Amino acid sequence: MPTRILIVGAGAIGAFYGSRLACAANTTVSALCRSNFKAVRDHGFKVTSPNYGEQVFKPEYVFSSPEDARKAGVKWDYLLVATKALPDVSDDSALIEGLVSDGTSIILVQNGLGVEEPYKKRFPKAAVLSAVTIASAAQPSHGVIKHNRWTRISIGPYLPHLDQGGSGSKPDDKAVIDSNKKIVYLLQEVGIKDAESYSHAGLQFVRWHKIAINAAMNPSSVLSGGLGNQEMSLDPEISRHLTGVMNEVLETAPKVLGKPLPPKLATVEQLLNSTRKNSSGSKPSMWLDWEKGARMELEVILGNPIRLARQKGCEMPRLQSMYALLKAAQENRDKAKGSSRL
Ligand SMILES: NC(=O)c1ccc[n+]([C@@H]2O[C@H](COP(=O)([O-])OP(=O)(O)OC[C@H]3O[C@@H](n4cnc5c(N)ncnc54)[C@H](OP(=O)(O)O)[C@@H]3O)[C@@H](O)[C@H]2O)c1
Repeated sequence: MPTRILIVGAGAIGAFYGSRLACAANTTVSALCRSNFKAVRDHGFKVTSPNYGEQVFKPEYVFSSPEDARKAGVKWDYLLVATKALPDVSDDSALIEGLVSDGTSIILVQNGLGVEEPYKKRFPKAAVLSAVTIASAAQPSHGVIKHNRWTRISIGPYLPHLDQGGSGSKPDDKAVIDSNKKIVYLLQEVGIKDAESYSHAGLQFVRWHKIAINAAMNPSSVLSGGLGNQEMSLDPEISRHLTGVMNEVLETAPKVLGKPLPPKLATVEQLLNSTRKNSSGSKPSMWLDWEKGARMELEVILGNPIRLARQKGCEMPRLQSMYALLKAAQENRDKAKGSSRL
């Protein structure tokens, strides 16, 4: 039997990793689409990448809705969820209701903290795998995927009962860990050389480490009126601010996770120096979302870290200021949009 994978949220990141996985032996990849459904059904995805060249990726099944996917009655080995994480807009765990059966693993390829909980809550018996990617990709038009740079994806089993105060490992943990190893192996087989397998605790550190970058760059780009990563890191005053935000995140992570930061993670200075050298002109996704009037991933990038820290008695004042003001700005913008439609 082939390994059957369904991409849920087949946008930039979902379709990029889907196109790679479709090259694995004895593996089929399908896509649950939304606005890009017709383009993908008719032509597949056109994927360009500096690493892998040009590829037309034709999914085995292309579904227009979760209902459509449920009707197909396929037993999925992996559901790779790559929607934007917007818990203030929708609980996307509902999308895969009826698609999870015995042996299905749910891989969450999303930025932010706390993205796993709604899935673990709705599907307590399913294997939930948590993934962080630094790949940069975009979908400039429906079905056209532009992989810009980087491929690294870090994946770990989500086993929160192993956290401090948890009751220790459970008999089913091994199956979750094996499923994690298998998807990492498949990604490596199709040329994602830096696909890496982590433990539950190790992956949560990777998530916090990525938050140091996202919580610094994303909101600051919106608040500075659309400056790119390199411009911000070269501006002396903004650079001090970015350093402050990154330090706040990396000092809070060990307090929340109850362990020191692993030494192999890049330091704040290393992160900022590499951003200063990156002349690609890239702009954070939060700015791109703000510019097009879309909801921003504020809750998972700012709100959840602040709330997790508070549960441990810590405040994150730099994140909190940006969160409070951007949330209000987003609400005001949406209210104004609503009243202009009346
Ligand atoms: N792009 C990057 O370079 C990058 C890098 C690292 C991490 N990430 C993270 O990866 C995640 C995905 O980002 P992305 O850039 O790939 O976003 P994206 O291009 O907007 O893709 C998300 C896809 O999910 C679809 N979707 C949303 N709700 C759906 C629903 N109810 N049913 C079916 N499809 C649905 C969207 O459809 P519509 O088009 O109809 O809305 C879109 O095709 C985010 O958490 C992001 O922060 C992105």
